[in-house]
Amino acid sequence: MLKPKFVSCIFLLTALTASAAAVAADPVAGKARAAVCQGCHGADGVSALAKTPSLAGQPAAYLEAQLQKFKSGLRKNPTMQAMVSELSNSDIENLAAFFAALPAKSAGGDPQLASAGKAKTAMCVSCHGENLGGHGEHPRLAGQRADYLVEQLQKFKQRERQGGPMNAIAQLQSADDINALAAYLAGLN
Ligand code: HEC
Ligand code: HEC
Repeated sequence: MLKPKFVSCIFLLTALTASAAAVAADPVAGKARAAVCQGCHGADGVSALAKTPSLAGQPAAYLEAQLQKFKSGLRKNPTMQAMVSELSNSDIENLAAFFAALPAKSAGGDPQLASAGKAKTAMCVSCHGENLGGHGEHPRLAGQRADYLVEQLQKFKQRERQGGPMNAIAQLQSADDINALAAYLAGLN
């Protein structure tokens, strides 16, 4: 028979999980916190700054996971680590909900390079989604800035950024592959 202590522990965990799920992320509160972010990531979450990602239309779960990784130091970037240091967990959830709800916009890519990149995305869709629009903790790649994509793929390749399966996948790509992939992805809507 289960010990009473063990049973009440399960009961408590269930109750905690239920109450955590009941507190939904609040995009309106996120918007109120987003002014500083918009200075770099764009007013509508579409970045006009070099090597700075667009956030509009990214899955909320992905944005949240990355903000937590900057906070714990698992993902390193001095600017972003400073940005998140003062954010609470609910700030992070709310900011993620705000940017996720904004419509994504294509950054546009070099058309000649892009045609070479298309064929190389066959394996990417299995995780990043059929239209490369992302889901859950798999980021949207469609429409992202090419210079940002190139930089991140290089960081995965050099293991400067830990990205689960991405470190091995980036190893398989030459510098030309990376440029072509980024040009194709940036041009998608
Ligand atoms: C001074 C410019 C600047 C400001 C302000 C800024 N960011 Fe960033 N952000 C960046 C840069 C540059 C990167 C790319 C970092 C890297 O290379 O890993 C980034 C990356 C990110 C990422 C990862 C996106 C991805 O596709 O993986 C998220 C999420 C993010 N920022 C959210 C925010 C939020 C939320 C705020 C406001 C609290 C904010 N940023 C403020 C410059 C900025
Ligand atoms: C097995 C699943 C899987 C496959 C296949 C895969 N990815 Fe990923 N990718 C991920 C995950 C998970 C992440 C998030 C990593 C993290 O937590 O930082 C990611 C992140 C990325 C990022 C970072 C985006 C950002 O906003 O910072 C890029 C760029 C990327 N992948 C490109 C690709 C390309 C190009 C391909 C195909 C050649 C590909 N991926 C194939 C799982 C995958």
